[in-house]
Amino acid sequence: MTDAVSRTEREDFQATTDPAVMESADRGEANLLTYHELYNLWERQQWSVQDLDFSQDRVDWHERISEEERFQRMYSLSSFFIGEQRVASELGPMMRAAPREDMRLFLCTQIADEARHVEFFDRFYREVGVLESDNLQARLEETSAHTSKEFERLFDQMLKDRVDRIAREPEDLETLVEAVTLYHMVIEGMLALTGQHFIIMYNEEQGTLPGFVEGFNNIARDEHRHVAFGARFLREMAQADPKYGQAVQRMLGEVAPIAEGVLTPPWYEEGMDLFGYSLEDTRAFAAKCLERRLKVIGLAPVA
Ligand SMILES: [Fe+2]
Ligand SMILES: [Fe+2]
Repeated sequence: MTDAVSRTEREDFQATTDPAVMESADRGEANLLTYHELYNLWERQQWSVQDLDFSQDRVDWHERISEEERFQRMYSLSSFFIGEQRVASELGPMMRAAPREDMRLFLCTQIADEARHVEFFDRFYREVGVLESDNLQARLEETSAHTSKEFERLFDQMLKDRVDRIAREPEDLETLVEAVTLYHMVIEGMLALTGQHFIIMYNEEQGTLPGFVEGFNNIARDEHRHVAFGARFLREMAQADPKYGQAVQRMLGEVAPIAEGVLTPPWYEEGMDLFGYSLEDTRAFAAKCLERRLKVIGLAPVA
């Protein structure tokens, strides 16, 4: 299996203190940043979608990547593009329901990050010429044909139902804990960061999509910062009242088969490679990251 920390030993990734990038998390130790320190890190880790150059990516996509491989890549590209749009629009009510001002301030920065991530995919699709559609809304609709049932269930039912509830009852902290577990631990921590890790390594090995790789690394760094917020929030909540720790465990048990389904592309056949690695490698990487984060939160791994 790929070493979970090899790509993320970079100083800027380590600076986020996401337990998944810290070896000390195997012993349950991580010096998680405070919400205000995470805010300050956000100010220092800015980047611009408009500075990226996708001209080589356009050549690679149309001339170096085969039609079959383009089709296979569309599952993860579409899941990320639509996933970023979904999380950007669901975070507002979660920010409002967070019980402290320093938490809300950080979550405001995260909303801005998620908007930038949507813009990244939109610009990539536009400049590389991935689809026919000529505006953001139409591109999202056109690309949604490539996602899966499990993907829709996770975002449009499990996450959306909880966020709708929080929007009506912002004082419902148990539902906020469930939403942060889904959003920060599962969607960002297990699914997005795992996909990013393998897709970036694959493109680096193949020498393809250099503009995409540069931007996707910036997105991964942002996601580690978001997950570090989630780990701190859930640790504080679990310490304040064991019922919140139980809510995290319950949510993880419920979402496990759906998350597993999202990690498995609809076109997958037994024994196939996914960007140079097996499905088992991908699952093991996601499980290791979750295990490290749960240790730091102070909870046992979910069986
Ligand atoms: Fe994001
Ligand atoms: Fe995020």
